[in-house]
Amino acid sequence: DGDVFKYYADGEWKKSNSGKSVPIVNPTTRRTHYKVQACSQEEVNKVMEAAKAAQKLWAKTPLWKRAELLHKAAAILKEHKAPIAECLVKEIAKPAKDAVTEVIRSGDLVSYCAEEGVRILGEGKFLVSDSFPGNERTKYCLTSKIPLGVVLAIPPFNYPVNLAVSKIAPALIAGNSLVLKPPTQGAVAALHMVHCFHLAGFPKGLISCVTGKGSEIGDFLTMHPAVNCISFTGGDTGISISKKAGMIPLQMELGGKDACIVLEDADLDLVAANIIKGGFSYSGQRCTAVKVVLVMESVADSLVEKVKAKVVKLTVGPPEENCDITPVVSESSANFIEGLVMDAKQKGATFCQEYRREGNLIWPLLLDNVRPDMRIAWEEPFGPVLPVIRIGSVEEGIHHCNASNFGLQGCVFTKDINKAMLISDAMETGTVQINSAPARGPDHFPFQGFKDSGIGSQGITNSINMMTKVKSTVINLP
Ligand code: G3H
Repeated sequence: DGDVFKYYADGEWKKSNSGKSVPIVNPTTRRTHYKVQACSQEEVNKVMEAAKAAQKLWAKTPLWKRAELLHKAAAILKEHKAPIAECLVKEIAKPAKDAVTEVIRSGDLVSYCAEEGVRILGEGKFLVSDSFPGNERTKYCLTSKIPLGVVLAIPPFNYPVNLAVSKIAPALIAGNSLVLKPPTQGAVAALHMVHCFHLAGFPKGLISCVTGKGSEIGDFLTMHPAVNCISFTGGDTGISISKKAGMIPLQMELGGKDACIVLEDADLDLVAANIIKGGFSYSGQRCTAVKVVLVMESVADSLVEKVKAKVVKLTVGPPEENCDITPVVSESSANFIEGLVMDAKQKGATFCQEYRREGNLIWPLLLDNVRPDMRIAWEEPFGPVLPVIRIGSVEEGIHHCNASNFGLQGCVFTKDINKAMLISDAMETGTVQINSAPARGPDHFPFQGFKDSGIGSQGITNSINMMTKVKSTVINLP
C-alpha cells in the first residue's frame, strides 16, 4: 500500500514481503503519522549479502572517489533540508528550527568526514626492525588502514539523521558498506536522508536501510554473522547488544547523567544560561543534557532564582511553532518522567514550578533540594525536568558525579582554571566542559562515555579509525 514508506536495499526502494508495517506516532498529536515496512529476517539476510558483495568493490574504489561521492551526498542532504526537517518535526517533535539545524550539521559532518578521511587514510606507517633488541635492519614493515567490512549503524530517536550520518560517513570513507537500522521514531527522516545518498550515486547494496520491529529483527541484525562492526547510540539496549555481539569492534554511546558542578566563584548568569541551554534544549532529550546541577550551598539560592527567571520564559507547545519545550517522544517516556517527578515530590524535593503535563507535553520543571535517596538524583529523565542538589564542598560534588553508573560528560563552572583542571581530572566522565554545558560537538572532537555510558570513542577522526583495521606487510631482506 502506498502509505507505507519503502525500505532501501540493493539500490532500490522496496516493500517488505512480510505485508506488515510499523506505525510512527506523532508525539504531538499522539496519532499515527507515518508507517514504515516491517522487514523480515529473510530480507535482512539479503541486505547483508548485498552489503558484503558491494563492500568488496567499494574497498577497491579510490579514496578520492569515495570522498567525492560523500561530498555530493552532503550537498544533496543540505538541499533537501526542508522535507527532512519536516519529518523530524512530525516524528520526534523536534522544534522546527533545530530540525533544520540537525540536517545542516549532518551535511557538514559528511563533508568533514570526506576531508578527514582522505588525509588520515592516505597515510600509513613505515617501520624498521633494528629498533627492537636483537634485530638487524633487515625487516621493513608497511602498515595501512583497511576497512572492516559491513558496519551496522543503529542511531537513536533524538538525532535520527545526525547520529546516522555520524556512523555512515566514517564507515563509507573508510571503505566499508553500511546497513542502517533507524529508530522507529525518526525512521522516515532517516529514509529521506538515505535517499540523498541514493541520489548521490553510491553503488548498489553499499548502503541499505532496513526498518522494522526491534523484537523481530533487532537481535537478528546485531548477531548477524555478516556484521563486522556495530555503531550504536541509544539506551541500555546497547549493554545487551554488547553481550550478544560476536568478536567485532563496537562503538556504543548509551546515555548519561551529566553533572553541572557550580563553584562559589562562578559567573552565575553564565551558569544559568548554560543550565537552560544544557538542561532544556530539545526538552532534555539529549544524552549530553545537563541532568543534575550540583551547586555550592552559598550560591544555590541565587543560582536557583536566576534559573527560575529563565524557565518561565521558555515557550511550551508544538514543534511546528518552534517552542522551546515540545512533547516528549512517547507516552511511555512521559510516564517515566512523571514517575521520577512523583518520587521526588513524595520524598520532599522543592518544586520551583508547578508540575504540569498534557499528553506527552511536560512543562519545564526545576527541582531544588533534591537528595540522594530520590530516583531523579541518579536516573536520566530524558525530559524537561532538572534536579538541583546543594553541596557543602567540591568533593561532595565530585563524589556524586563519580558514584553514578554513567560517565558521559560533565561540566564545571568556576573562574579558577587551576581548580577546574583538578576537578576535570577527578571526574570520571569521557569529557568535562569548563564553563559551558556538555555537548558532543564540534563533531570532530572526541566523544566518549565511561562506565555504562558506552565504549569506544566517537567524533569524526576516531570513528574513521575505529571503522578500520591495521594491515601490515613486512619486507624481509636477505
Ligand atoms: O543524544 C546524544 C547526542 O550524541 C548528543 O549530541 O550534544 O550535539 O546534543 P549533542
